Amino acid sequence: MARVILSPQHPLSAGLTGDSRLVRAYRGERADTTPVWFMRQAGRSLPEYRELRVGTRMLDACLDPAMASEITLQPVRRHGVDAGIFFSDIVVPLKLVGVDVEIQPGRGPVFGRGYADAAGVAELTAIDPARLDEASAPIAEAVALTIAELNRTDNGSGTATPLIGFAGAPFTLAAYLAEGGPSKDHLAARTLMHADPGAWRALMDWTAELTGRFLRAQVLAGASAAQLFDSWAGALSLADYETHVAPASANALSHVHGLEYETTDSAGSPVTRAVPVVHFGVGTGELLGAMHGIGVDAVGVDYRVPLDVAAARIGAGVPLQGNLDPALLAAPLPALESAVREVLRRGTAAPAHVFNLGHGVPPETDPAVLTRVVELVHEAGA
Ligand code: CP3
Repeated sequence: MARVILSPQHPLSAGLTGDSRLVRAYRGERADTTPVWFMRQAGRSLPEYRELRVGTRMLDACLDPAMASEITLQPVRRHGVDAGIFFSDIVVPLKLVGVDVEIQPGRGPVFGRGYADAAGVAELTAIDPARLDEASAPIAEAVALTIAELNRTDNGSGTATPLIGFAGAPFTLAAYLAEGGPSKDHLAARTLMHADPGAWRALMDWTAELTGRFLRAQVLAGASAAQLFDSWAGALSLADYETHVAPASANALSHVHGLEYETTDSAGSPVTRAVPVVHFGVGTGELLGAMHGIGVDAVGVDYRVPLDVAAARIGAGVPLQGNLDPALLAAPLPALESAVREVLRRGTAAPAHVFNLGHGVPPETDPAVLTRVVELVHEAGA
């Protein structure tokens, strides 16, 4: 995509977040201490979230700008994390262009039908992904409300707290679309990939454009970093990932790669920088190098591969994000604390480290434990 300079009001252009711990880490620099945020930091672990959500369905909450913004801000206020992650869902762009999808509590995204063959794919791809640009007004509005608040915060690093925008990668979206809902092994998607490579390719191209536009809308509206979630890519062999999936993920990211801002480097010379992009998946130990290879600044690692091992697999020089096992959040404090220190220690193998969990916060997590982890990372990661 053509290069676009972000507006002067964007937090990166305005000099508010470009030197935050998070954005510095994504460009490979270490700041005063290790930045920390949690996947699924917004949501059911917080009583204030559960209270606000009463009577509102998940996707309706995502499309209510005031509510989505408030939910995004709740964990930032409570825990003092180094980033907000925009409260939304990977299926929101599908909903916005008219696909029949709901999120069932305790289950996940459920579609009115499965799209596991050429006829189903043709029905989806008849929708013009460019329709998202107009339909995404509630997203832009929610992001604008959120950064207006985040720009006033100072989490101790002397900068405003950045907002991370996100999108689902084409394969993870296809894993739900093909099946028509959540599945264990994503068999319908993996079968379509080989049964009808043409239909698969059409599905991946369409999904890449739609999810790429969703991510772009968040960055243009004020997100300072972007994360692509390919949560279920770990179900794939490396060969299938490289042949049938990685090109579509790269296409999705092409919608944000040209977004740049002008600033000055540490020596005071003018520089143009791109919005940093992170790529994460679960069970992707075999794919880490390929996931970096699609052209991202940082790689998110799940809890199965220690960060120093991940650094060796991906190659030196790549900032890493992760990877405390979420199970530790329910363990006695001494076990949790030593696990946090171990993650920090192994993270020193990378040029920079953003502390996170190896996957999302479990809903039953005691939020006081998350606050304690933030304090400990800031203390021990300095
Ligand atoms: O705090 C954050 O991380 C931001 C919000 C966020 C949500 N979904 C909100 C949400 C993010 C980044 C996502 C991404 C997402 N959605 C992914 C990729 C990340 C991952 O976890 O691997 C995936 C696979 C989905 C699909 C999805 N949506 C699932 C599996 C579920 C959980 C179903 C359940 O109830 O356990 C959802 C629903 C969902 N998305 C919730 C939240 C807070 C729970 C809904 C609720 O509160 O009722």
